[in-house]
Amino acid sequence: MPINEYEFTAKFEQVLSLSRVDATQSVAILKSHYSNPLTVKAATNAALRLGARVYMVELPSFNHPMAMGNDMTAYCGDTALTGNHAAQRALEAADLIIDTMMLLHSPEQEQILKTGTRILLAVEPPEVLVRILPTEHDKNRVMAAADRLSHASSIQVTSQAGSNFRAALGQYPVVSEYGFADEPGRWDHWPSGFVFSWPDERSAEGTLVLDIGDILLPFKNYCRERVTLEIEEGFITGIFGGFEAEYLKDYMRYFNDPEVYGISHIGWGLQPRAQWTAMGLYDKSDGMCMDARAFEGNFLFSTGPNTEVGGSRKTPCHMDIPLRHCDVILDGETVVQKGKVLDS
Ligand SMILES: [Fe+2]
Repeated sequence: MPINEYEFTAKFEQVLSLSRVDATQSVAILKSHYSNPLTVKAATNAALRLGARVYMVELPSFNHPMAMGNDMTAYCGDTALTGNHAAQRALEAADLIIDTMMLLHSPEQEQILKTGTRILLAVEPPEVLVRILPTEHDKNRVMAAADRLSHASSIQVTSQAGSNFRAALGQYPVVSEYGFADEPGRWDHWPSGFVFSWPDERSAEGTLVLDIGDILLPFKNYCRERVTLEIEEGFITGIFGGFEAEYLKDYMRYFNDPEVYGISHIGWGLQPRAQWTAMGLYDKSDGMCMDARAFEGNFLFSTGPNTEVGGSRKTPCHMDIPLRHCDVILDGETVVQKGKVLDS
């Protein structure tokens, strides 16, 4: 059911307070023609209520000719900011950018963050934002999990469906997402609630079996049959199953790039207010379905780029694949058991 503007603005004010917006701060609202006008309005009014100086940066939209579908994660790399140095300088001048457009996975975003500017991405429907309102408790829990992950040198993932996946860790940093941007140079995504890192190059190996009910993003489909992924030396080398395996294979083949088969971020969901079932209740054009990435206890596997943590794999195809009912084991210690998070 649609939320009213008054309540949405009040919730936005909470998240901006958590993001340390006050009268000392300048806030840029990054938007394009497809930004949700309610989100832009609530972000503006909430920042003004907190005393911040607010300005808008509006960019013409950009669509890569190869991109298929409306999902904003369906093509990674260039964005509306690519090559637009004047707009980039305007954004770097802000203390906080509220991104209602989506710069994720772009080198321009990394450059802005290096200047100390914080970025809060908010592109999900207002009702989703409010249902998964972040809290300090979310942050504490995610940071505790990030601490465990950052001390691990290996990860193993098993399941009754037949998964047995292993990778070495430590080459790439651990990334935490808890839903607000409270530190200089921090990027975060409202709503979220998970941790992840990238496997050491060429170390990921084994088998992942996507079971019935596991999710393929950006397709926004629940698997109706099992799909088996064979992984060797950091790359998917085989995709087996029925129709869904065939669909996934053809989609990845479309990009004509061997790097699409590389393993990208891996981690687990920690957000109790995100729901496995939510994706079935929205249209495919309603945001990017962060519920599916963040719901508690999912093992979030992904494919494609690693440039956002300094890797060299710049590839446009990025699949996020949340699996249920897995055991996630760090250096022999179970942190998720059959899809239930074991807090330390
Ligand atoms: Fe992802």
